[in-house]
Amino acid sequence: LCAENGVAQRVLSKVLAEIRPTPRDEQALKGFSERIIELLGKAFPKSEVDQISVEGSLAKRTWLRGREEVDVFAQFLPSVPKERMAKLTVGVASEVISSLGGVVKLRYAEHPYVEGIINGVRVNIVPCYRVEPGGWLTAVDRTPYHTRYVRSELSEEAADQVRLLKAFLHASGLYGAEIRVGGFSGYVSELLIILHDSFLKLIHEAANWRPPVVIDASKSVLDEKQREKFPSAPMILVDPVDVDRNAAAAVSLQKLSEFIILSKLFEARPSEAFFRAPPDAKMPQEPGMRSIVGILFGLRKARPPDVLWGEILSTGSGYETALRRHGFGVWRWEAWSDESKVMLLYELESLSLPQFYLHQGPEVHRPQALSFIHKHVGSRDTAAGPYVRGERLYAVKKRHVRTAADALSQATARGEVAVAADLKDELATAEILQDLETILQRVGEDREMHRFIVNFIGGLPPYITHLSE
Ligand code: UTP
Ligand code: MN
Repeated sequence: LCAENGVAQRVLSKVLAEIRPTPRDEQALKGFSERIIELLGKAFPKSEVDQISVEGSLAKRTWLRGREEVDVFAQFLPSVPKERMAKLTVGVASEVISSLGGVVKLRYAEHPYVEGIINGVRVNIVPCYRVEPGGWLTAVDRTPYHTRYVRSELSEEAADQVRLLKAFLHASGLYGAEIRVGGFSGYVSELLIILHDSFLKLIHEAANWRPPVVIDASKSVLDEKQREKFPSAPMILVDPVDVDRNAAAAVSLQKLSEFIILSKLFEARPSEAFFRAPPDAKMPQEPGMRSIVGILFGLRKARPPDVLWGEILSTGSGYETALRRHGFGVWRWEAWSDESKVMLLYELESLSLPQFYLHQGPEVHRPQALSFIHKHVGSRDTAAGPYVRGERLYAVKKRHVRTAADALSQATARGEVAVAADLKDELATAEILQDLETILQRVGEDREMHRFIVNFIGGLPPYITHLSE
C-alpha cells in the first residue's frame, strides 16, 4: 500500500506542477481583478451597490492554470428591485468590459450576469443581494458566504488538492454543474476536499461509495433527516452555509457512478493519464454492422447553454421513448451540439424489426378479455387470432413501422417527442440518418461532429480510453 501511495504521490506532484498557476500568473490575475473592481466601483452608484468583491475560484485559490477566470460580484442592497439590479449590472458591466477591450456576451438563463473575454481571460460580473444567511433573495446570494467558508476551511496545501480534483474531474468530463454536464461544481470539489483532507483520501473513500451518497458537510444534522429533505438526489452534500440546500443537487446518477468507477481505476493504477485529455478515438475497422441511427438538426436562434441543453436532453429521451414504444431495443444514446446544430445518436439492438409481432392480451378471467377480442378480431392489421394460449389471450399483429428511421420520422412528424415547444420548429426540418453509413457521409468536414461520432462508436469513456491502448 505504501509503495502504491508513493507512485500516486509522484503522479500527483507532477500533475500539480502543471496545473498550479505560477506566482507571476497569480499576481497578474489579481492585479487584473483589482482593476476591474476599481472600474466597477466608480460606475455603480454607492447608494445601491454596497460592495464589489472577487468570488469564485480566484478568491478561493482553486483555479487551474490555463483556466483562469475572474468572478466579480456586485452586492446590491436588498431595497433595490430585481429589475433595476439586472438593468444596472448589464449596463455598467458591458461598459467596463468594452472599455478594457473585451467582448461582451449575454447568455444567462435564470439569473442575469455579464460575461466578457478580456485578453483571453473570462470575466463574469454577477449581481447579488447583500443579505443575512437564510434571507436569500436570489440563487447567488450564498456565494460570498461560500467563498468565506472555503477560505476559512481550506489551507494553501488543501487548495492544491482541490486543483488536483478539479483537473481529474475535467479530464473525464465530470466537472461542472451546468445541465450539459450534470457533474461536480467547483464548490462541491472544495467541500469534498475540506471533508476528506486530500485528493487521495477522497478517492479512497469514493471508490467505496454506493449511491445515494449522503455527506453532511454541516456536521450538525443527522443523515437520515437530511436524506428525507432531498428524497430523489443520488448525491446529498449538505451545504454548510445553508443546511436546507443540497450543494450537490446538480450531480446526476450517471456522473456520480462515473466518479466512483474512476476512483477505483485510479486507486488500482495511478497515472497522469487520468488528468489529461484522452487521445482521439480511432475509427474501428468495421463499424458497418452496428445498428446506429441519428438525428441532425440546425438551430435557428441562439439560447443560453443551460436552456439549450435542457431541451436537447429532453428531446433525446423523447426519441428514446418513441423508439422503445415501437419495439426497438435502445442500448444507449448521446447528444452533441456546437450551438448551431444538434446531433443525437442511438445504438439499437437492430435497425429494423420483423413484419409481425406477438401482441399479448389479458388473461381470460380479466374483465378486459372481451374487449381485447372485439378490438382485434377482423382488424386489418391482425394476422392471426385473437386466440387463447394457456390462460391468456394473444394476437399476431402486423407492424406499420419497421425501421428505426421511420419510427424517428413518425415521432417527429406527429410531435410525439416530448420536446420543449421552443425546439419544435427546428425539429420539423430534422434530418433522420438511417444508418451509420449515412451518418458518416453527412458529417463531411465537421471535425467536432466527426469526433463525436467516432467516440460514440467506440463507446469508451475518456478514463477507460487510456487503458485500452
Ligand atoms: P463558478 O462556476 O465560476 O465556480 O462559480 P468556481 O468556484 O469559480 O470554479 P471555476 O471557475 O470552475 O474554477 C463562481 C461562484 O458563483 C456561484 C458559486 O457559488 C461559485 O462559487 N454560482 C455560480 C452560483 O451560485 N450559481 C451558478 O449558477 C454559478
Ligand atoms: Mn469561476
